[in-house]
Amino acid sequence: MDLPGRSIISIRDFARDEILGIVDKALEVKAGEWADALHGKVLATLFFEPSTRTRLSFEAAMVSMGGRVIGFADPNISSTRKGETLADTIRTVTGYCDVIAMRHPVEGSARLASEVASVPIINAGDGANQHPTQTFLDLVTLKEEFGRLEGLAVGMLGDLKYGRTVHSLAMALSLFGGRLSLISPPGLRMPAHVKEELDSAGTRYEELRDLGELTSDLDVLYVTRIQKERFADFQEYERVAGAYRIRRDTLTGPCTRVRLMHPLPRVDEIAEEVDATPNAIYFRQAHNGIPTRQALLGLVTGVIR
Ligand code: NCD
Repeated sequence: MDLPGRSIISIRDFARDEILGIVDKALEVKAGEWADALHGKVLATLFFEPSTRTRLSFEAAMVSMGGRVIGFADPNISSTRKGETLADTIRTVTGYCDVIAMRHPVEGSARLASEVASVPIINAGDGANQHPTQTFLDLVTLKEEFGRLEGLAVGMLGDLKYGRTVHSLAMALSLFGGRLSLISPPGLRMPAHVKEELDSAGTRYEELRDLGELTSDLDVLYVTRIQKERFADFQEYERVAGAYRIRRDTLTGPCTRVRLMHPLPRVDEIAEEVDATPNAIYFRQAHNGIPTRQALLGLVTGVIR
């Protein structure tokens, strides 16, 4: 695996074997190997958009392995406010740290940052485009649950149009011969460019309007929040708000044994009564953000191999 010095921008930049290698490395880290590997390393977290899990788990990952963190969680207190370009911010911060984790509302911003940075850029979400580190932690969770990534029947429910987590995850799963059920209100379907990727990988998928249309069992149901902040038109949002909600009594038929995942935050897509069921694994999934990001930070800085 040739990860030292490499940026993590899109899940598409990774071959199947690299993905498997990273997932296994995260599981090694979780098992306690590589303690303190990040000693002396500095991570900069540049968050131009709200975040709880992604930023805090990057920071906790770094600190708990002996590294240090600088950065901002509110662009209004950075020089962006004075009109500095993203490229100039990156050119500067690149001299202060060993690796940068960045979240930005503009699609393609992480790629641009990687072109001007002299340290690896980790894309912590660029608009509605990609969220590769979320996908790696999702895959780690799947590997733990099923012992494999191959051949899983995965439903994706919700905002498949603007949800970057499902774009990255669908592309990753296309490398593992699974079957996808893409379930969304008609206005929030998976974008054509992602479906083209699925087609060219020969991935079987179906598009459904709601869970009731499922005809075969799912291994996993990956639920997403409607990405309110990405709608250009508020009325378009209001038409779909509250369109789906998982309750205890949803977990029947093809969903009886389903593992429920969610990148979080949830708004109202999964009722709290579901949390106590054996199906709910979304908080465990969120906690896998730590070993996954530890492994990624260690791999790109070259201290984990
Ligand atoms: C997701 C994101 O930011 O794309 N959150 C996360 O990183 N876990 C999902 C979302 O905001 O709905």
